[in-house]
Amino acid sequence: MTALDMILARAESTHCLAHNEIEQLLADDSSNDSLFAAADRVRKQYVGDEIHLRGLIEFSNICRQNCHYCGLRRDNRSLDRFRQTPDEIVHMAEQAVEYGYRTLVLQSGEDEWFTVERMTDIIRRIKALGVAITLSVGEKSFAEYQAYRQAGADRYLLRIETTDKDIYEKYDPGMKLDNRLRCLEDLRALGYEVGTGCLIGLPGQTLASLADDILFFKKIDADMVGVGPFIPNPDTPLKDAAGGSFTLACKVMAITRLLLPDSNIPATTAMEALHPQGRMLALQSGANVVMPNVTEGDYRRMYALYPGKICVTDTPGHCRNCITGKIHAIGRKVSDTQGFRQKVPGR
Ligand code: SAM
Ligand code: SF4
Ligand code: FES
Repeated sequence: MTALDMILARAESTHCLAHNEIEQLLADDSSNDSLFAAADRVRKQYVGDEIHLRGLIEFSNICRQNCHYCGLRRDNRSLDRFRQTPDEIVHMAEQAVEYGYRTLVLQSGEDEWFTVERMTDIIRRIKALGVAITLSVGEKSFAEYQAYRQAGADRYLLRIETTDKDIYEKYDPGMKLDNRLRCLEDLRALGYEVGTGCLIGLPGQTLASLADDILFFKKIDADMVGVGPFIPNPDTPLKDAAGGSFTLACKVMAITRLLLPDSNIPATTAMEALHPQGRMLALQSGANVVMPNVTEGDYRRMYALYPGKICVTDTPGHCRNCITGKIHAIGRKVSDTQGFRQKVPGR
């Protein structure tokens, strides 16, 4: 047994790793297959073979923020902007329910047109369809998060992006890491299922910093963790950056599974943008969630975070069939529950 194999065996049984052990695993690719296999076993033991499909509605690409990595950033003049009406959003939700989705994710830039009144109205109308609702609409006040929660939102996705304060504040100008942390604390206090995650491959990010990110997910006991490679967008200040690798993103995801065995971990769309079988490989390396796009028409293309986005010309019905077929092909099944985290006692 190599030293890395011993670290992996202990992580698989105790779900704990020290910072330097995570760094060693990330630095050395010789044990990747063992890491992915261990994460797959832990996934199977704790969350089983069912895969939760969350239907993703991208309802506005208008954003007041200016993140250097993101195509939706305020200063990107090359992007055709769109904002769906509340009726359109609810209509897409109804369609998604017909396709069988039990959870919907409402995602957008930080678009201030969606006031608390408008947002809570949309949440109430969609909640009446009998689905779990996840929001991913950025940084808000405690009162706003509270209003969404009271209207029926169940979960919230807010990636920390990176726990490195200098890198975070350099590439998210005007935003503060402390406020991001405050948001995650508020969401937890309000009883949301809390999702976070990070980008892999931001310039200046080190393996030590990624180890910090993984330990942060563990520290806040994240209910959901989305890890995705950073893919440089030609219309952003980071257009010439190298970007993240599929393999490193998978490794961070797999180590996260070892440390948070009962969390919901998606095979992220950006992984598939870098590798044609990206999501299926991720599902065999610790992931148990997929978020197929249920946005209709040209809005998919216009929600252009990064180049090479998958499914931009496909329909919600096509994606549903496509992903179901792929899931069956790897011997797994689609869950028909709302897929809340089932905490394993005594862990
Ligand atoms: N505005 C909200 C927020 O930032 O939390 C939600 C929407 S934002 C587009 C969702 C996620 O997209 C971000 O958390 C970020 O990690 C990811 N993202 C943005 N630009 C990206 C890029 N170039 N490559 C990969 N992921 C990217
Ligand atoms: Fe806006 Fe989110 Fe993109 Fe930042 S990552 S520019 S907050 S949509
Ligand atoms: Fe959209 Fe396969 S999931 S085409």
